[in-house]
Amino acid sequence: MLLERIHHVAYRCRDTRETVDFYRDHLDMEFLLAISEDRVPSTKEPDPYMHVFLDAGQGNVLAFFEIPDSPPMGRDPNTPDWVQHIAFKVKDLPTLLAAKARLEARGIEVTGPTNHEMFQSIYFFDPNGHRLELVADTSTPDMLARLREVAPAMLDEWTRTRRTVRQAAWLHSREFGTKKLEFMQSVIQEDNDGTTPFVG
Ligand SMILES: [Fe+2]
Repeated sequence: MLLERIHHVAYRCRDTRETVDFYRDHLDMEFLLAISEDRVPSTKEPDPYMHVFLDAGQGNVLAFFEIPDSPPMGRDPNTPDWVQHIAFKVKDLPTLLAAKARLEARGIEVTGPTNHEMFQSIYFFDPNGHRLELVADTSTPDMLARLREVAPAMLDEWTRTRRTVRQAAWLHSREFGTKKLEFMQSVIQEDNDGTTPFVG
């Protein structure tokens, strides 16, 4: 494989101090380094900036740019705000619940935990409007193997139809309370094509 891991991901921030404080205070992320130039190293464009690196654990770096000469940041008005987000893994479910309680005690609105079967997540926003997710992994090797197995066929079907593809819908049957419905659908599918789909 060509890649070893994510080196860093970079997002824009409104105020570097506010951003560094938020990630340090609420997610215990260490402020690793700052880089500041008048010109962009890759393009050589003049654009003074402040660039900071924050430690997201195990060599993962979350980076931000503050670019005061550009108009204030907005977001793509055509993309719902749950779509683009950054997800961080925490140790386990108790850690996730403790993080939720701590964020809420500090006045941060938190959504979840949401049960994705292979992990549970909470969601909230940073001061820049970037959506953040904390994840407690609850996957088993069997779950991951089943998902991997159906992924190529799911992609093919989606590419063809652009309609919801159901082979991994068991992931959210508990969250949506559709466990029984999924089972009924699987029975119908079995009747129709003789296959036995996995029902989680
Ligand atoms: Fe996510």
